[in-house]
Amino acid sequence: MCGIVGYIGHRKAYPIVLNGLKRLEYRGYDSAGIAIYDGKELKFSKTKGKVVDLEKKLEAEISTEGTIAIGHTRWATHGVPNDINSHPHFSNSGDLVIIHNGIIENYEPLKQELKNRGYSFQSDTDTEVLVNLIEDVKKKEKVKLGKAVQIALNQTIGAYAIAVFDRKKPNEIVVARLGSPLAIGVGENEYFIASDASPFLEYTKNAIYLEDGEMAVVRTHKDMKVRKIHDDSLVDPYVQELQMNLEQIEKGGYDHFMLKEIYEQPDAIRDTFRGRMLADQGIIKMAGIDDHIDKFINAKRILIVACGTSWHAGLVAEYVFEELARVPVEVEYASEFRYRNPVIDKEDVLIAISQSGETADTMAAIKLAKESGAFVFGVCNVVGSSISRETHAGAYTHAGPEIGVASTKAFTTQITVLTLIALQLAKKKGKISTSDFYTYLRELDSIPEKVAEALTSNEHIEKIAAIYKDAKNCLYLGRGFNFPVALEGALKLKEISYIHAEGYPAAEMKHGPIALIDEQMPVVVIATKKGHYEKVVSNIQEIKSRSGKIIGIVTKGDVDVKNLADHVIEVPETIELMTPLLTTIPLQLLSYHIAVMLDKNVDQPRNLAKSVTVE
Ligand code: F6R
Repeated sequence: MCGIVGYIGHRKAYPIVLNGLKRLEYRGYDSAGIAIYDGKELKFSKTKGKVVDLEKKLEAEISTEGTIAIGHTRWATHGVPNDINSHPHFSNSGDLVIIHNGIIENYEPLKQELKNRGYSFQSDTDTEVLVNLIEDVKKKEKVKLGKAVQIALNQTIGAYAIAVFDRKKPNEIVVARLGSPLAIGVGENEYFIASDASPFLEYTKNAIYLEDGEMAVVRTHKDMKVRKIHDDSLVDPYVQELQMNLEQIEKGGYDHFMLKEIYEQPDAIRDTFRGRMLADQGIIKMAGIDDHIDKFINAKRILIVACGTSWHAGLVAEYVFEELARVPVEVEYASEFRYRNPVIDKEDVLIAISQSGETADTMAAIKLAKESGAFVFGVCNVVGSSISRETHAGAYTHAGPEIGVASTKAFTTQITVLTLIALQLAKKKGKISTSDFYTYLRELDSIPEKVAEALTSNEHIEKIAAIYKDAKNCLYLGRGFNFPVALEGALKLKEISYIHAEGYPAAEMKHGPIALIDEQMPVVVIATKKGHYEKVVSNIQEIKSRSGKIIGIVTKGDVDVKNLADHVIEVPETIELMTPLLTTIPLQLLSYHIAVMLDKNVDQPRNLAKSVTVE
């Protein structure tokens, strides 16, 4: 979960790599560095801090000329964030320079062996071990850099996306991947290397996504060859035409990516069902599902694995699948599932949900399920991501790039895609009447407009945020379909404002958390009409009698909760199982405004990264 960027070609490399790092900062932002070969010498600069800090330091320190450069933005794994541990790292001779995203798990014995052979180390990183291992192999075996990288990687255990070059031969960059993403942009006599395609969108739309276990030597004026790392066999790379555009990855007038992404939700949800749902004709067409419908129909159960916000979307999906398709569903944290020897039947269907499509634990859970013979279906946002390629079939959310580290539109579009799947399955299994099917489709079709209406409460929510911004704790309560929304609301507040928050099923409150309630405690209660409305109203009474401050998320026109709560935020009425798509919106806005008022870095909260490619 670091970002790597490289360029080799005829343009000045520095601005390409620097801007690329700014776009990849969502992957990690505790330190950054760049190495440039200026035609005579290898220059570098690296620093603890963000890419803007690097920019200031670098431009004061070194010349930025040169047409080959590599850069890195870090999320620390081995070694604290400081200048020395920042990438790039160099081999002892100073000839080889490397950037690395991933973890070399057996770096300790390798380091010891290299020390015994006279190598010394400046940093605490596994990456510095790798670059010296490559140098050692290159010298010992008297081979070219590409071969040395290959031999060295075959001695490692772990995950990597790397780019390495030799200052004595600055016309090639060697790249390789295993478990961390790596895209190569192919231009005219130039190549771009990056953790995703965003750094090179304005230069080329042609990208090759290396598969796990592949490497390539990219050279100017030469065709690139892709090989398997373990047996040297040549691979015919697939050149993909990118659909993403620059506008999608810029802020477009919003103060933060998170706010932009919150506001993009009506369009993002529409894009998710566009071409898949013909509401007026009562048709859902999803190739990923329709081509494998027997697997779903015959599934003894559906297992859902995911992490974080995606796991919350999985919990909503559990309620939706069980309600509509009457199939048992189990939702698991991927990180727990993969390590607890789970019982997986070959008649299970496993759905893996991941915005980035790169989350290491989710990927490991997929591999485990595949080994057990289960059918694995992916719900990803990033096209061409590792998870989307590892699964047997899948459906993209089509939310567009999500750059704010706190997930927003990914969540609502994941729920949308999963609702479509549940509806299709219910229909194919004969669990839903034709008229109900039509009703659900028409309602889903109206959700983007209703989300837009929910967004009009923004100013009202900002005022509520001003009242509660200094709270030390906050409780979020919901029942049924909205219990996972309570979890998600609490997660949003925690991760961007650093206020402690907990989500709970409303009825569980009296089994413990009620002890926390006093006049200092804001309690956000999702109390939309239908479902367990009356029960939730009783829960609100219980909070009120203990002087808690109540913020109710209610259906438009609600009276009962309004009479009890300190504040209410209205959302339009919808079918109960679709309420999470609306109730989530005010919770996203509430946490956003609180974080802004507390002067927190909304898009890049401390200690986090967008794509968690470590276990
Ligand atoms: C929270 C958040 C994380 C991610 C989690 C899974 O706002 O963004 O909790 O949801 O790291 O990431 P993906 O969906 O990329 O697998």
